[in-house]
This record gives sequence, structure tokens and C-alpha cells, in this order.
Amino acid sequence: MNRTTVAVLYGGRSTEHSVSCVSAGAVISHLDRSRYDVIPVGITSTGTWTLGTDDVSTLQIVDREMPVVDAGRPQVALGLSTEDRGVLRYVDGDRAGEEIARIDVVFPVMHGTFAEDGTIQGLLELSGLPYVGPGVFASAAGMDKEFTKVVLGAAGLPIGQQVVLRPGTEKLTKAEQDDLGMPLFVKPARGGSSIGISKVSRPEDLDAAIAEARRFDPKVIVEAAIIGREVECGVLEYSDGRVEASLPAELHIPGETTDREGESEGDSFYDFNTKYLDDVTTFDLPAKLPENEIEQLRELAVRAFRAIDATGLTRVDFFVTADGPVINEVNTMPGFTPISMYPQMWAATGVDYPTLLSVLVQTALARA
Ligand SMILES: Nc1ncnc2c1ncn2[C@@H]1O[C@H](COP(=O)(O)OP(=O)(O)O)[C@@H](O)[C@H]1O
Ligand SMILES: [Mg+2]
Repeated sequence: MNRTTVAVLYGGRSTEHSVSCVSAGAVISHLDRSRYDVIPVGITSTGTWTLGTDDVSTLQIVDREMPVVDAGRPQVALGLSTEDRGVLRYVDGDRAGEEIARIDVVFPVMHGTFAEDGTIQGLLELSGLPYVGPGVFASAAGMDKEFTKVVLGAAGLPIGQQVVLRPGTEKLTKAEQDDLGMPLFVKPARGGSSIGISKVSRPEDLDAAIAEARRFDPKVIVEAAIIGREVECGVLEYSDGRVEASLPAELHIPGETTDREGESEGDSFYDFNTKYLDDVTTFDLPAKLPENEIEQLRELAVRAFRAIDATGLTRVDFFVTADGPVINEVNTMPGFTPISMYPQMWAATGVDYPTLLSVLVQTALARA
């Protein structure tokens, strides 16, 4: 069998740089080495492309310290023109210009802006290099919480209420505030890993929450809090075009988080520390829901995948409310860390981690 060379891209200029490193560490160690040659490529937080590391121990969280791409590694460039498409070369030092590898397919294990938002996808599209995951439009639509809801809503899928605060607008109108009620969730429009998100339970805290979200994105989303169980579902496209949904998982977020003292029940949510550092989130996989509700979620997850015109994979996150499921968001490059739900949901559905990665790579190659 022909071997395939996979470049695993990670890091990058987004706030989720470190989460991407942890995801990439898991992908690098689970890609089937009997079929794939793996070339890690780390993008520093300032945007320099480097030859990444095979030593995945440097891509782990140690004592609550998140890893970053080592800027001291040799710089590399990926050929993007027709003549040298996919050729990875050294760009500095004695070996400048020397070929390192010829890449067959790119796995952008990157989250957030300049990563999961269609920008990397556009670069790869332009070069004609196959890549894992959704294309330019779906990536952009999934990244932007305003347009995720616009697209899903237009497809008749259940979504929550939102108000968009564009640059220059500092406050909700009285009517908007009355309409959304309390509590509220205030978010950077294009973010992830809960960075910059606040839950607001008192009107006097709203301005500070908007300012906090604006540190990450000039466009801010304000949502009505949805009371429901947090349930996620993985979607995977096979190389023959079949699209399937995994068993869903329900997350249980403990009542208190480490960075809030005194605020009692109802103020915790799935924030950054809860997601990656506190080791407190538990889950049921499959979610403890009646069979018909599980089937409904899986069907909605596939419909959401189609609605944003995705390819390859997505993770669709729901709130299951007393009135039925509401889609919170669609992640086009979900976490792949050892504790991430996407690979775990597929494992529970009978697709182990190396097989999952092979399906993703083969689908990318088939699409090209
Ligand atoms: N409208 C909402 N109602 C209730 N909880 C919410 C709402 N929006 C976000 N949350 C909570 O905040 C978490 C992070 O929000 P999310 O929109 O998923 O952002 P991210 O893209 O950073 O994951 C969710 O997992 C959930 O716990
Ligand atoms: Mg989320």
C-alpha cells in the first residue's frame, strides 16, 4: 500500500493556540504509522511556521501549564504554487531551501481564528492541497456565532435568541434587554474554548461583560441563557460520502468553578478551566436520554452539518431543554485532546481513535 504523508498543523495565532497543541499531540500519537508518515508543523503564536516536534510529551498540559509551539525550532515553508505544491522546505539556516517532505494531505488541528475560520482552508484550497475538515464557507460559518445561527435558523433548525453588538455599539437597547431577560451569556462572536465568555446575572454587570468579550472580538454576541442539559454529538463523513452521527454525550459541569468565589449555584458554566484544567467535568456517554431523543439529536446533528455545508467532520453542541433540543454551536475542528468529546464519542460508537483519523484523512483525499 502507498504510504501517505500527513502534515499535522497546530498552534497558530488564535487564543486557542495551546488547546490546538494538546489536540495535535493526541492526533500525532494516534495516526496509524503503518499507513501514514506524519510531519508535525507548529505555527507560533506570532505566525511563524516551524518544523514541529514528534515528542508529544511537549504537547501536553503539565501542572496546569498549557503548551505552546517552540519558536526555537527550524522555520519551514509549505509550497503553495502548482510547481511545488505540498513541498515542505527549510527556510533559514544552513539547510535553507532543502526539501523536508512532500505533503499529500494537511490535517489542520487548529482551533479559532486564522485556523478554524476558513483562512487556513482558503490557503490550502488555493494551493490545491487536500486537507481534513470543512471548507472555507463551513469553517467561516461555524466560527462566527452570529452566522452559525443565521444559517441554522434559515434551515429550520432550533436555535436560541441572540443580539449582535457590532463595533461602535456598546449597549443593548431597553427592548433588547427586556426581550432577552436575565441571565445572559456574552461572547466574542468568533471565539472558542469559552475564552472571553461571561454569564451575566445582574444588569449592572453587563457593561463589563461586553468589554471583556470585546478584548477578543470587536463583534459581541449577547444571548438569553438557555436552561437545558449540555449534550454534544459528533458528525463524520466517510470517503464514500456517507455522513453519520455518533452517540451523543451529556456533560455534567459541577456547581462551582475555581475562579468564582461566593457566587452560588447557577453561575457555573463550561468555562476554560472547567474544560481543560480543573479535571471536574464528568459525562454520560451515551447521554441518558430516551432512545427517540437520542435519534432526534443525531438527525439534527447531521442536518446542521449539511446546513453549514460542512465536509469531513463537525461537533454539534446542544442544550436539551424541556421544550426539546436547541443547537448552541457547530464546531468545525472540535478538540482532539485526550479528554475531548469528539474522539471519545466516536470510540463509544465503535470507531476507535486511529480509525477515526484514517477516515478523516481518506475522506480528505477522496474529496480532492
Ligand atoms: N445561551 C446559553 N445558555 C446557557 N449556557 C450557555 C449559553 N451559551 C453558552 N453557554 C455556556 O457557555 C459554554 C461556552 O459557550 P459556547 O457558545 O459553547 O462557546 P465556545 O465556542 O467558546 O465553546 C457552553 O458550553 C455553556 O456551558
Ligand atoms: Mg462550546
